[in-house]
Amino acid sequence: MFAKIALPLLSISALATGAFAAPFNPKTQSLAARYTSFDNWGGYSSLSGFDNFYGSDNFSGEISEEVVVHETEVVCESLSITIIQQKLLVLQEMAKQIITEQICEVETQTIVFEQYISSVSHFSSSIMHSNGLSAGYDSSIVSHYSDLYNSDGSLSTSDLGFSGSDAGQSVIVPGGSNWNDATSPSSVQSAYAAAQSAISGN
Ligand SMILES: *[C@@H]1O[C@H](CO)[C@@H](O)[C@H](O)[C@H]1NC(C)=O
Repeated sequence: MFAKIALPLLSISALATGAFAAPFNPKTQSLAARYTSFDNWGGYSSLSGFDNFYGSDNFSGEISEEVVVHETEVVCESLSITIIQQKLLVLQEMAKQIITEQICEVETQTIVFEQYISSVSHFSSSIMHSNGLSAGYDSSIVSHYSDLYNSDGSLSTSDLGFSGSDAGQSVIVPGGSNWNDATSPSSVQSAYAAAQSAISGN
């Protein structure tokens, strides 16, 4: 129990130290944005071009606007929770496979994985209707799922031909959720809090 709690506390204090250790220069830094370029960060050539994907100053690729398309009327259906958990675990293990098989430098593995976690975490706010975006998915990005593997089952090495800034440009928002403007803001907050306390073990 102690180790579980101590680790987040340690990283919070490490972050706080980092944020206030360097002298603040208002000409080059603002409090809101203090972005480190990761292009060739630390001299690792595997990070070359890193900032081009979401744009510099945009490490976590938070989508600010989305284009909703209505090519098809998609409606949610309820499926067994186990099947949902299985599918999400497949995606999780695929991310690990890509990171360990297609990046050799552990520093690059570290930075890319942190970007992935941070980028995916913004979806919480869409689900909870707290960021002004609709909870949906980019259908054009999803359509590349079959480009990840070769027919022999190995990971492909081809350029998929899109950039991070394409995410959110062809969004499908499935209908049929039980969202209720009157009651859901507080019920999703309770659900979120219950999940967070399960994560932190408190
Ligand atoms: C950050 O990247 C996302 C995804 O590409 C994009 O939607 C957003 O506009 C970018 N934000 C900035 C400030 O460039």
